[in-house]
Amino acid sequence: MSQFFLAKNALFLLRKVDTTCKLCYIDDRMGIYGIPPENKEENIVKKVTFAVMGMGNRGERYANKQLRYPDMMEVVAIADTNPLTLKKAKTFLDLPEERIFNSGEEMLQQPKMADIMVIATQDAQHRDHAIKAMERGYDLLLEKPIANTAEDCMAILEAAHKYNRRVIVCHVLRYTIFYQEIKKLIDSGALGEIQTIQASEQVGWFHIAHSFVRGNWHKKADSSPMILAKCCHDMDLFLWLTGKKCKAVSSFGDRRFFNKEHCPENAAERCINCPVSDCAFNAVSYYIPRIPGWPTHVLNPQPTVKNIIESLQTTNYGRCVFQMDNDVVDHQVVNLLMEDGSTVNFVMSGFTGEQNRSIHIMGSKADLIGDFDKRTFTLRQFGKKPKVVDLNPLYTDTTGHGGGDARMVHDVLRLYLGEDFDTSAITVIDRSMESHFVALAAELSREQNGELVKMDEFIDNLKTK
Ligand SMILES: NC(=O)c1ccc[n+]([C@@H]2O[C@H](COP(=O)([O-])OP(=O)(O)OC[C@H]3O[C@@H](n4cnc5c(N)ncnc54)[C@H](O)[C@@H]3O)[C@@H](O)[C@H]2O)c1
Repeated sequence: MSQFFLAKNALFLLRKVDTTCKLCYIDDRMGIYGIPPENKEENIVKKVTFAVMGMGNRGERYANKQLRYPDMMEVVAIADTNPLTLKKAKTFLDLPEERIFNSGEEMLQQPKMADIMVIATQDAQHRDHAIKAMERGYDLLLEKPIANTAEDCMAILEAAHKYNRRVIVCHVLRYTIFYQEIKKLIDSGALGEIQTIQASEQVGWFHIAHSFVRGNWHKKADSSPMILAKCCHDMDLFLWLTGKKCKAVSSFGDRRFFNKEHCPENAAERCINCPVSDCAFNAVSYYIPRIPGWPTHVLNPQPTVKNIIESLQTTNYGRCVFQMDNDVVDHQVVNLLMEDGSTVNFVMSGFTGEQNRSIHIMGSKADLIGDFDKRTFTLRQFGKKPKVVDLNPLYTDTTGHGGGDARMVHDVLRLYLGEDFDTSAITVIDRSMESHFVALAAELSREQNGELVKMDEFIDNLKTK
């Protein structure tokens, strides 16, 4: 597998010369591009321009970074099929009507009008939207997952190579101070050789109900397997933090609780009419007090009490969590065997009181226990006093994936503006593919009752398909 990726990488690098905006050249062997030093002056652009396809929850977050980085970034076009979403976007983006499109397809009929297209439509739409945008000449900021099947991920990678486009996958966690500081520590050798990692993603009791029982990701066929949708970030972190490739995967998991067997007697189909008084998942008691915050704007871009009540009466968001047609897991465990014999054990669970991630990295010289949400870790160097590291003073912003959303956009802007900085963590598609393959291999293993999936065989099967 490594040879396959190396060959692909090399090919990509050789082909990557952006002739349209002259921003890019090949500056290292890892697929990251900057401005040729000799041409710096002539190639400097004042602002990086973006066209955003899909102005929902994610697209809006990227577009509104223009307000944070007004000197570096300009959104020049947007597209969404939901008129209410476009109406909301007009409140913070000053765009002429001819740059506001009723679908991504309509926007792509126009000649290229920005340096980068953000693809923030739903998982199952990524393949078509990403490939068409690259054909049109755009580099991409592509929401994760790259696509919802391994074949579609490959198709997007191949199109990036064919059309010579830079595709940056939104693995926003890599850009957070928390994981970047841990990575620095690992690379400094303070932990010695990594032997094993134990990590968890605590999805949160209501986040799972909102997104994976009632919401956009509740059915695998329409979206993605949950381990891909939610945890390709985690797989990406393990590969990046260790700097190792994954050799084999096994996994178990199920939809064990959010099913008809756990439905309380007398429960109504919709929470708004439900007589059951002690159900934590009651949509009315969850959404109404949260207006207008997350996730009520997912129900309606204008989350007034009236609009949210209407959504609870008419959409999946008001349905009983035990009577949905959901089929994705509510908990899953994954084991990775890395190429050097080290291991990773990962738990994803919806049954947690908060949304958080934790990591325990065990090395030959020390272990490290980190809490993403608290932004702290404890380093226990063997034979020495444990050291608690509080990263909070380094943060100026903890919103949007612990500040990762904004930091990723900022790095993308700096990259396109030709700033001289360490680009080794930038999540170009070639670096992101393996995380998706590992997640999809975990899903395959889970479907086969935990049978071991060897990554080289998984990739070979893909190549022969
Ligand atoms: N990086 C992360 O951590 C992260 C977090 C959450 C979601 N995501 C991913 O981001 C993507 C978007 O998720 P979201 O939560 O914003 O979903 P969303 O449903 O809020 O947004 C998708 C938007 O696309 C629009 N749309 C649908 N068809 C379209 C078309 N043909 N042309 C233009 N617009 C169209 C919809 O109207 C909607 O507004 C998904 O792939 C999701 O998995 C990534």
